[in-house]
Amino acid sequence: MRTLREIADLREALHAVRRRDQRIALVPTMGNLHAGHLALVEAARRQADVVVATIFVNPLQFGPSEDLDAYPRTLADDQTRLEAAGCDLLFVPDTATLYPRGLTDQTQVCVPGVSEGLCGGSRPGHFDGVATVVSMLFNLVQPHLACFGEKDYQQLAVIRKLVTDLHFPIEILGVPIVRAADGLALSSRNGYLSEDERRVAPMLYRTLCQARDALETGEPSEPVLSQANEALRQSGFTPDYLELRARDLGPVTATTREAVLLAAARLGPTRLIDNLLLTLPS
Ligand code: PAF
Repeated sequence: MRTLREIADLREALHAVRRRDQRIALVPTMGNLHAGHLALVEAARRQADVVVATIFVNPLQFGPSEDLDAYPRTLADDQTRLEAAGCDLLFVPDTATLYPRGLTDQTQVCVPGVSEGLCGGSRPGHFDGVATVVSMLFNLVQPHLACFGEKDYQQLAVIRKLVTDLHFPIEILGVPIVRAADGLALSSRNGYLSEDERRVAPMLYRTLCQARDALETGEPSEPVLSQANEALRQSGFTPDYLELRARDLGPVTATTREAVLLAAARLGPTRLIDNLLLTLPS
């Protein structure tokens, strides 16, 4: 696996790949890789000849009081894991490479509609930052396919709309959530949890499972969601949102069957997110 830091080197390496008519898959990450990221690389590996991963802790998608500085940077371990998972090229730009004129004057991409509410409501500007850097990476790598985790369900919806609206000729593959044995969705932010918080953290998944089971048997959503909110509070979480939406993140109507239950909650200083797909009865 080659690690490249400069745009010119990346373009040159990919030019050679394209001349060989090979299929390129992109896996954008912010590093501190876990089994969830490696599942993205493995999915990419199955669908393409050349897998390009990127590691970039994107300052544009962090709010002023968020964890940009504390975000774990573990490049040497990440390189070892990526190579073992079958990654061919790793692009690790620094901030000045992607944003040479700084952040305030940066052209940005905004994806209206799906970026609003849920995480977009509690993290203003977050999805503009994601859409901007992902557009930039799509433009630099020009992959045939790009893989994103379903844990960030709203992010995946934002990227799907971005690709449609800006006519990027890129297939987007959503890869299922990878969970620890106790159900906690893997996330780089799980590393912030204290031992006690780590013991409590799987309650987020368990609470979602209970709510899903109740909704699938036809119980009305309002009391189910307020009970789930209360259960999270009792366990020590401060819920940010817990919402039932249609799979495209539109509102649930009388005819909605395929739905998704999405939650974000703080445990101490750590913000965890999770979601579960469900089918509502007719
Ligand atoms: O999901 C992430 O890790 C990031 O939001 C992404 C897609 C790499 C953009 O910075």
